[in-house]
Amino acid sequence: MAKQKSILIKWLRDAHAMEASAESMLNKQVSRVKGFPRLNQRFADHLEETREHQERLDHCIDRIGGDTSMVKEMVGKFSGSMQALATSGSDDDVVKAAISIYQYECLEIATYRALIAAADAYGQPEVALICKDILAEEEEMASWLIDNLAEITRTYLSKQGVGISPPPMPSSSDRRSPPPV
Ligand SMILES: [Fe+2]
Repeated sequence: MAKQKSILIKWLRDAHAMEASAESMLNKQVSRVKGFPRLNQRFADHLEETREHQERLDHCIDRIGGDTSMVKEMVGKFSGSMQALATSGSDDDVVKAAISIYQYECLEIATYRALIAAADAYGQPEVALICKDILAEEEEMASWLIDNLAEITRTYLSKQGVGISPPPMPSSSDRRSPPPV
């Protein structure tokens, strides 16, 4: 039982470090996408959610008897190639910013799916439930980004003054076009 708890606590701390890195990335990206009001708002909203995720993970760690003071020491731990990618590129490259955050959301989705399975396996339903709530917000963010990526790209290119062909005519089953980003 003690071993099960220590594995779960470690994974929750790792997830906390991942969210802390996400907060730092989103903070940078929010200012990068100022000229794209909907994307800017979506990043700002998810930044707020990301801060809440850390608080909820603290609660989970606390709930199963872990020490939350250690999570702060681990913030720098999550600094691999994903974070490097998310903070690279030219300052005004909004398309790269959207792709990078989408990639990070996929990492978060996989992490929470594994955490939910572990919490279920170790008889921690409250932890599983909290992770499911967080997972739903990560999936929503990932879906929004991928659904809007084509429009973000067109808006970015038109702001760059690059001539682009008009998008193809929608088929009769898809007359609605997304609002501008
Ligand atoms: Fe996220």
